[in-house]
Amino acid sequence: PFRRLLATRATVLAEAARALAGAQVVVATALVRDAAVLAARRTRPPELAGLWELPGGRVEAGESEADAVVRECREELGTDVVVDARLGTDLRIDAGVLRVHAAHLADGAPGPRALEHSGLRWVTAAEVPGVDWVPADRAVVADLVDLLRP
Ligand code: CDP
Repeated sequence: PFRRLLATRATVLAEAARALAGAQVVVATALVRDAAVLAARRTRPPELAGLWELPGGRVEAGESEADAVVRECREELGTDVVVDARLGTDLRIDAGVLRVHAAHLADGAPGPRALEHSGLRWVTAAEVPGVDWVPADRAVVADLVDLLRP
């Protein structure tokens, strides 16, 4: 029983440490080329399938947000990006907090391919508000329009 109590306390402490350290960070990439941003159509979970997102995912332990953006773009889009500035504010999502980073394709990098999405499209400032974005990404529409307008 004493060992069980210790184990329980360890779990509680680990949870408290995670909460203090901050919520899980998810990064999303506003990949810009020729005054358009890349939107990617999600395949999962069922409630988000078919909706469009800025590609990204969870930041892993020991990884910077910029590292995570580069890794996710390699995994999901098969290309290399260079990370520019943060875009917009922190967005609360179920998974934690979503932070958008603007980026551009690295010199000579291939065009993105949908390796984990069901479609990709380049969206201009005029088109951004009409895209069927996932709920969290809708909050950055105004920032995306500003980013894309010269
Ligand atoms: O693949 P991984 O679990 O790293 O990430 P994900 O499933 O793509 O994203 C983690 C969470 O962030 C999910 O709940 C997504 O819905 C959310 N997300 C979002 O709201 N907007 C994005 N542009 C990217 C992720």
